[in-house]
Amino acid sequence: MPAGVRVTQLQPAVGSMVSGLRFDGKALGDDVRNALRDLLHNRGLVIFEPGTVTAENFTDFAGFLGEFFNYAGPHTPRAPENANATMIDSTKDKHLRNHIWHADGGFRPDAPAFTALFAQQLPEFGGDTIFSSAAWVYEQLDPLFAAYLESLTVVQSADATGHITDRYLNAEEATKARIRMPPFEMPLVRVHPATGRKWVAVNESYAGYIKGVSRIVSQNILGILFDMIKSPEATVRYSWTKGALAVWDNRVVQHKGIKDYAGGGRRVLYRATMTV
Ligand SMILES: [Fe+2]
Repeated sequence: MPAGVRVTQLQPAVGSMVSGLRFDGKALGDDVRNALRDLLHNRGLVIFEPGTVTAENFTDFAGFLGEFFNYAGPHTPRAPENANATMIDSTKDKHLRNHIWHADGGFRPDAPAFTALFAQQLPEFGGDTIFSSAAWVYEQLDPLFAAYLESLTVVQSADATGHITDRYLNAEEATKARIRMPPFEMPLVRVHPATGRKWVAVNESYAGYIKGVSRIVSQNILGILFDMIKSPEATVRYSWTKGALAVWDNRVVQHKGIKDYAGGGRRVLYRATMTV
């Protein structure tokens, strides 16, 4: 890291804070880029203090960490100052699924590797985001249970909890979305390509069911894992500061927005997603 840059840990399982870094729009050197990627892989979530980037240039910064992977739904429009960013805007809350634990784009087999969120406008109170490390969760499992989970396949679905139904209110558009984003199978335990760490690849939004077991077995196993994912030990809760940037390893870290800001004002986060 450049001189003057400090990295501090947020919680044991997940999260670091970087302060003292200022992005001037120029390409990051390989050494800085590699150090930031290592930090993302090893700590899951990195918060960059306000002043590190701007609403206009955070996508250039994030673009040095991975290739842009643009996906946008009908309720996540482009940001006015930045064509590479989409808006997560509380005025669209009724159509958004960000208050349920999820991985961004987790309804597709090639979900983004990294997500970046920039705090553009915050409510007077509330609206934190909570993050959890599914790698930490895997590492807490009894080894015999972990070995059993490694034998299982999960069917993931964009509509497992009604994502398409809520987003595409027009029946014809919803039908097209279901064809575009069909359910797919994935091993329940996956291996991180950079760190070799294993993680439990299920989240409450998009995990449909475990294949080949009864509905009750599927529901109970998923319930155990979801309970661990939301346990305080696995998580970090970040209270946003305007101008801060959060970047996370979207493969092993899942998240949810905390919907406690009704009446507290508008919450607008700008998002960019990247693949590697
Ligand atoms: Fe999200």
